[in-house]
Amino acid sequence: MADFLTIEPISGVLGAEIAGVDLAADMNDETIATIRAALVEHHVVFFRDQDLSPEAQMAFGRRFGELDTHPFVEGNARHPEVLDVITEPDDRANFGGGWHIDVTFLPEPDMASILYAIEVPDAGGDTLFADLHAAYDALSETMKGMLDGLTCTHSAGPQYGDGGYSTKSKAMTTRNQEASHASVVHPLIRRHPESGRPALYANPAFTTGIDGLRRDESRALLQFLYRHATHERFTCRFRWRPGSVAMWDNRSVMHHALFDYVGKRRVMRRITVKGDRPV
Ligand code: SIN
Repeated sequence: MADFLTIEPISGVLGAEIAGVDLAADMNDETIATIRAALVEHHVVFFRDQDLSPEAQMAFGRRFGELDTHPFVEGNARHPEVLDVITEPDDRANFGGGWHIDVTFLPEPDMASILYAIEVPDAGGDTLFADLHAAYDALSETMKGMLDGLTCTHSAGPQYGDGGYSTKSKAMTTRNQEASHASVVHPLIRRHPESGRPALYANPAFTTGIDGLRRDESRALLQFLYRHATHERFTCRFRWRPGSVAMWDNRSVMHHALFDYVGKRRVMRRITVKGDRPV
């Protein structure tokens, strides 16, 4: 491990703060490998007091893979891979509100997201993360057996289609609304390609149902799984400061940007790293 880095867990289950690194610097491969290993182990890693231009944030992200462009939200005019995640004081909805895993409506959802805080409210606007491996592990063997082999349909329509929650944030511009209704199928239990650990892989924002079940059966089972996965014993909570960075593994966590700061401004910058087909 790069010996100048320290990695301190922030909760009993997931999340760790990494200190001793400047993300804007030209890091060697060993440092990147250490950050990647920490991400796979802790599922979300945090950095404080960073000073990242969009270019530096993209360069850091590219050390982990190719960057993606959001299909339904307008990116930054100069850098389409960058999403300016802004909540204005008169917004009545925020981007990333509600528990979700990023872009599971894609056939190959992004493996990681890297969010940088530019302006945050004095209080509020924290982000919650839930460990989908720990949630899976805690299920009974009988329930695991029932879920094994099931698939879910995912679609961006409920969020980005006409009237969807994510279209309500005034500061963010949605696009390609028609195409948002397309759907993809993913396994309900996903194996992490690096750690091999199984995880629950469904989320309230984009999972529209469990295939082969009646609608009421699917809704009841998904509601149980969401309530279970977001129980406090599987979560951590991150308090942002300007210059904070969170990097999370979308193959392992759901997250929820709390909207408890109506009347205040919050400005973040997000990039995502492309992933592979869930198996
Ligand atoms: C997101 O879901 O990417 C945004 C999370 C946040 O703003 O905290």
